This record gives sequence, structure tokens and C-alpha cells, in this order.
Amino acid sequence: MSLLDAARQVRENAYAPYSKFKVGAAVRGASGQIYHGVNVENVAYPEGTCAEAGAIAAMVAAGETQIIEVAVIADSPTPVPPCGGCRQKLAEFSRHDVPVTLATTSGERLETSVGDLLPGRFDVSHMDNA
Ligand code: THU
Repeated sequence: MSLLDAARQVRENAYAPYSKFKVGAAVRGASGQIYHGVNVENVAYPEGTCAEAGAIAAMVAAGETQIIEVAVIADSPTPVPPCGGCRQKLAEFSRHDVPVTLATTSGERLETSVGDLLPGRFDVSHMDNA
């Protein structure tokens, strides 16, 4: 199964009763394993979590820390780019050249990379205790 198909499939399980905007995400770890995530909203709005964050959490819980591919899909007129927080979360576990596919349920695609989503990223090399 392609990573985008995985994201499309898991999107069905998104919990978005407030925004009605369901998002599915999938990341592939260096092992080749696919990890899925969906947005999970909350009646206390700021407590909601993004699909990308869910996929990353599943990967880390499984013992992996290297992302080699990302896919995100939503029912929107154009492919929805990840929020700023998710760009930083993806960058924590990805090289700059990791490919990212952003897609719509109607078939639009935008191919980009983690580095293009977050140029000039803050990472551990900026910390003098690293
Ligand atoms: N959302 C994601 O899960 N990922 C994105 O890349 C963009 C936005 C979610 C957050 C919220 O549940 C809903 O979409 C509307 O912002």
C-alpha cells in the first residue's frame, strides 16, 4: 500500500466533530513500517491534536525515530499544508530531503519536502549542550 493510500484510509477514523475537517496522515519509518495518525479534536478546542502529531507519536511509541516519507490528506479544495507546529514536529525526526505528499480527497497532489516546509529550522545543532 502506498503511504498516501494509508493516510486516505485512516482519515476515515478522524475525530473532528467541531471543525468537520478530517485529516489523515501517515509517516514511514526507516524500517519501512507505516504509522498512521488522525486529527483528534476536543470540546476544549486548544486540546485538539493534528493528524501528523498522531502519526509521529505512533512511530515513536513503536521505537522508531527516523521518518523517511510523509503523506497528509484532507477534503479541501487544495492540498492543506501542515501547521507550523507540525512542521517542527516532522523536522525533529526527518532529514531536509524527506518527501512529503500533501493531497486532497478529490485527487490533487502537492509534492514537497520537510526542508521546504521548514527552511532555517531550529534543531539540536543550535544548542551548545548538544
Ligand atoms: N489539521 C491537521 O490535523 N493537520 C493539518 O495539517 C492541518 C490541520 C487539523 C487540526 C484541526 O483538527 C482541523 O484540522 C482544522 O484545523
